[in-house]
Parts: sequence; structure tokens; C-alpha cells
Amino acid sequence: MKATIVLLPGDGIGPEVTTSAHRVLEAIAKRHGHEFRFQECKIGGIAIDMFGDPLPADTIAACKGSDAVLLGAVGGPKWDDPNAKTRPEAGLLKIRKELGLFANLRPIVTFPELLDSSPLKRSIIEGTDILFFRELTGGLYFGPSGCETLEDGQQRAYSTAVYTTSEVERIVRMAADAARTRRKKLTMVDKANVLEASRLWRRVTGKIMQEEYPDLQYEVVLVDSMAMHLLSRPTSFDVVVTSNMFGDILTDEASMLPGSLGMLPSASIGSSGPGLYEPIHGSAPDIAGKGIANPLATILAAAMLCRHSLGLHQEADEIERAVRKVLAQGDRTADLVAKGTASLGTAAMTERVLEAL
Ligand code: NAD
Ligand code: IPM
Ligand code: MN
Repeated sequence: MKATIVLLPGDGIGPEVTTSAHRVLEAIAKRHGHEFRFQECKIGGIAIDMFGDPLPADTIAACKGSDAVLLGAVGGPKWDDPNAKTRPEAGLLKIRKELGLFANLRPIVTFPELLDSSPLKRSIIEGTDILFFRELTGGLYFGPSGCETLEDGQQRAYSTAVYTTSEVERIVRMAADAARTRRKKLTMVDKANVLEASRLWRRVTGKIMQEEYPDLQYEVVLVDSMAMHLLSRPTSFDVVVTSNMFGDILTDEASMLPGSLGMLPSASIGSSGPGLYEPIHGSAPDIAGKGIANPLATILAAAMLCRHSLGLHQEADEIERAVRKVLAQGDRTADLVAKGTASLGTAAMTERVLEAL
């Protein structure tokens, strides 16, 4: 097949891990006789530096014209001034909105080979296989927000969590459909005891589950409680659906089940058009430029890209198998070993994956 893939390396370790995933995609294309055309564009801090805009129009146009987008990460201390006119992160939020990517799929799977890399007990995490559906284009991230100066000179700032019925319905249906193909359980996470928007989620989801998915087990958990249950009974969850902000926070927490943020990929998809694939981690300024970032999250995101946007299931399986193989061989980046233990850098780890492929 022929496919156009836009690469958005971004900032910090973004370019390092994107290079790894790019190499894996080239290798898989070669093996299967596909023609992938790669186009690299700017997003985030580097785009602010070059064009004064975290998401230049050229980047939007290239993404819209592509079959899929692979992103590294954006942001960093250089652009963190709270008084700045714009931020790298605004570019990421805008590309999600422009492409209509309302669903962010974040699989949390513990690899048998990595059970000892997690700070949590093997007896608790073994067998964890959760698929998060994080709503991605609504809620607190996109509601009315602002900052105004009051008469007494104080400032008053606000961000608002807003959801509509249809925004909740479309992601809940997508999550419930996925649950039907898995272990037939859906958990919805909200804060309905306090937030009005969460009460809408509770009503809409309850109705859909009762009327359209009576075959699924349906559970509701408050987000504060979920932060605890994720660590105490992770194997009891199958598909989890939640709002933008809660999904952001809970999945970083959940990365400690497999053992590192550097292991978690994600797929952002809409009802049509290209999907966007990225690791869930950020630009990791503390290790950027050192060549030690774990590339596996982005490589696994490339596998999700093959599966979800290109329909290349076998290719996706092969990439995931290659990752498992290197872990089984004992290959580890620094984030997966105890301090002071020998580990592989980004490039060496990528070589191992390419060999395993
Ligand atoms: P982070 O995810 O960048 O890093 C958190 C910790 O995890 C750091 O100690 C980092 O070294 C480690 N880590 C992350 N990815 C790793 C990898 N692949 N291999 C090894 N270690 C890894 O979060 P942060 O430090 O809070 O944020 C840094 C910047 O990244 C901020 O500007 C933030 O806005 C941005 N960010 C961007 C994205 C994105 O582009 N999708 C996601 C999250 C954060
Ligand atoms: C993520 C990140 C982003 C988010 C930031 C960088 C805008 O944390 O992709 O998880 O909050 O969605
Ligand atoms: Mn995040």
C-alpha cells in the first residue's frame, strides 16, 4: 500500500523517539513492500521559535492531507513563561481539534518481562490489560477560560469544564464497542458528586449502557477513588472511559503499572480522517539530548498507527512482537532498570527492535 505519514518530532526527546519510530516504520514498510512517504513538519516550541506559531498553517495542511500523523512531544522550560503570548502545548491542542480527534486510546498493559520494573507488587499488577478512552477535544481543556483584573487589582482566572450530550455519547459508544470485543466491562470515571459536567456524563452514559449495551458489565467510579483503585485492583478494569482532564492524569499514574511512562503509546482518532499517534509522555526536558530516552512508547504508537489508520494488522502485530522480544532478551533503557544498572540508549534500543523485526 501507499501511505503518507506526517512526522511531528516537536521538542525535547520528541525528535529522538520519533527518529526511532520512523526507522521502525521504514523497516516494516520495506519488509511488506509498502510505500510510506514521510513528511516532517514543525509543531510546539520549535515552531514558536521558527515561525512565532506553535502550529503553523503548513503543518495543519500537511496533517489534513495525510493518512496518519506521528508525534513526539512538545513543550519545555524554554517556553514555560506563564506570561508568554503562546505555548507549545497550544499547538498540540489545536491539531487535535483541527483533526476532530475526540477519542484518545491509551492501552495500559503489563509486559510479563517487565513485572519487576514496576514500583508496584507483581501480585497486584500481573495480568493488567486496560484500554483507556480519554475524551480529547472537550471539557476543561476547551471550555471558556480567561484571566481578568478585578477592581481591587487582583486577578481572577478560570477554566470551565463543558460537555454536550453528543460529545459524551460518541466517545462512550466507541469505548463500549471496544469493550464488546474485549472482556465486556466498561468503567466510567467522573466526579458527579461535585461537577455538573460529570453529572451529564453520568446520565448520558447510564442511558446508553442500559439501552444499547445491556450485555456489558457497567461500573461507575469517582475519579479520586479511581486514582486509588488503579493501583489496588488494576486487573479488574477492562475499558475505562473518562473526560479529557481525568484521562490525562489517570493514565500518567497508570504508567507505573507497566513500570515507565516511556512504555505507553496512544492513538487519537475521530470519526474520519487521519489519526494522530504519540507516546503519552512529554518532552522529558530532564533527559533531552542525552540519548537515553525510551523509544518503545513511540514505537508502539507506530504499531497503533499501522493498525488503526492504515489497516495493517499484521504489521502492527509484528512491531509489538518485536518490542516484546527485546524485553524478553533483557534489553532495557535507563527508565526500566534500577539506578546504576547498565542500560541501552535510545539508538541501541532501536537497533535491537529493528533486529527483532
Ligand atoms: P514528561 O512526560 O516529559 O516527563 C516526566 C518524567 O518521565 C521525566 O522524569 C522524564 O524524564 C520521564 N520520561 C518521560 N518520557 C520518557 C521516556 N520516553 N524515556 C524515559 N523517561 C521518560 O512530563 P513533564 O516533565 O511534566 O513535562 C515536560 C514537558 O512536556 C512539559 O512542557 C509538558 O507540557 C510537555 N508534555 C507534552 C506532552 C505531549 O507532547 N504529548 C505530554 C506530556 C507533557
Ligand atoms: C498529553 C499531554 C498534553 C495534554 C499537554 C502537553 C497539552 O499531557 O498528551 O497527555 O494534557 O493532553
Ligand atoms: Mn499528559
